[in-house]
Amino acid sequence: MSAVRSQHRAAVVAGLGGALPEHVVTNHEIAARLDTTDEWIRTRTGIRERRRVAPGQSTVDLAEEAGRAALGPDGHADAVVLATSTADQLCPATAPQVAARLGLGTALALDVNAVCSGFVYALATAAGFIAGGMAERVLVIGADVFTSLVDPDDRTTVPIFGDGGGAVLLRAGEPGERGALGPFDLHSEGELAKLLWVEAGGAAQRVPENPKDRFMVMQGTAVFRQACARMAESSRAVLDQAGWMVGDVDRFVGHQANIRILQATAKQLGMPADAVVSNIDRVGNTSAASIPLALADAVADGTLTPGHRVLLTAFGAGLTWGSTVLTWPELS
Ligand code: COA
Repeated sequence: MSAVRSQHRAAVVAGLGGALPEHVVTNHEIAARLDTTDEWIRTRTGIRERRRVAPGQSTVDLAEEAGRAALGPDGHADAVVLATSTADQLCPATAPQVAARLGLGTALALDVNAVCSGFVYALATAAGFIAGGMAERVLVIGADVFTSLVDPDDRTTVPIFGDGGGAVLLRAGEPGERGALGPFDLHSEGELAKLLWVEAGGAAQRVPENPKDRFMVMQGTAVFRQACARMAESSRAVLDQAGWMVGDVDRFVGHQANIRILQATAKQLGMPADAVVSNIDRVGNTSAASIPLALADAVADGTLTPGHRVLLTAFGAGLTWGSTVLTWPELS
């Protein structure tokens, strides 16, 4: 494939799937254990319940199930890009194991860690493989068992996070067709890394000096402000690059961190409240799985239909954030 031709290859959405653990954790169950209430959690976050993996179930399982659903019965892919910050092992990556379970032979496979922005980063990575002629069909998965990073005694994080997986299949196609992704707007700000931080477990502090250091610590109010500002800024940038007006967007699919963050961001952008797609009440914040799970739920309940112009925007630890757009395609 010539370099000139490859520049014209777009990554087109050709499949979609989601996976949730069966076990539901309600606000009432959390309120029975921690100093909080169902009412506080609902009104501050919009979350009523979230899912938690069963013992022995892990990121690779959720990624496999979501990936299989996106591939469809006879689907194949020559690459797997898996967004996760809760890989089953620190080494190796989870994606090769998922590719093997899905029978994808020796497919190119790697993990991308941009935490809650991971899915948008993974879409961009996959789109780059397709544009560069390195792959024809890429399975992009977002899967996280974020409950493994949450301190069970921390009332500020337990209510927010849940486990899940979501995936899309991308194929090589033409820039103008329905389902074609892009442009992308991606950023980071490492100076603010400690706003959402896990101290131990990595190379810097392999064995936690304090057992609690293996859990996520979150400065909620600062994260809230950053999430609204960065998602709004990135949304404007990507719309500008795409040549879309805010009013062109039919569906705003933002990272499901908090319903108030989604509503505030939409308001800052001047977008009507009914453009906001959300399933946070049922799943909480599923990190890298959040956007594909929201897409899968919106397609299933008819909120998202072919022809809708969609804005995807995410924000996460790192800090990282990013956005892209597409016109929703017909999926078989
Ligand atoms: N139940 C009851 N009270 C709680 C609580 C809980 N689960 N969690 C925190 N509180 C308390 C706080 O301790 C604080 O008490 P204080 O005033 O005595 O200090 C009070 O509620 C208000 O806390 P505040 O942080 O101002 O509330 P908030 O309206 O900002 O909501 C979050 C807290 C965590 C819901 C909100 O900050 C948030 O969603 N932040 C972003 C989190 C996020 O999206 N993280 C992932 C990003 S990818």
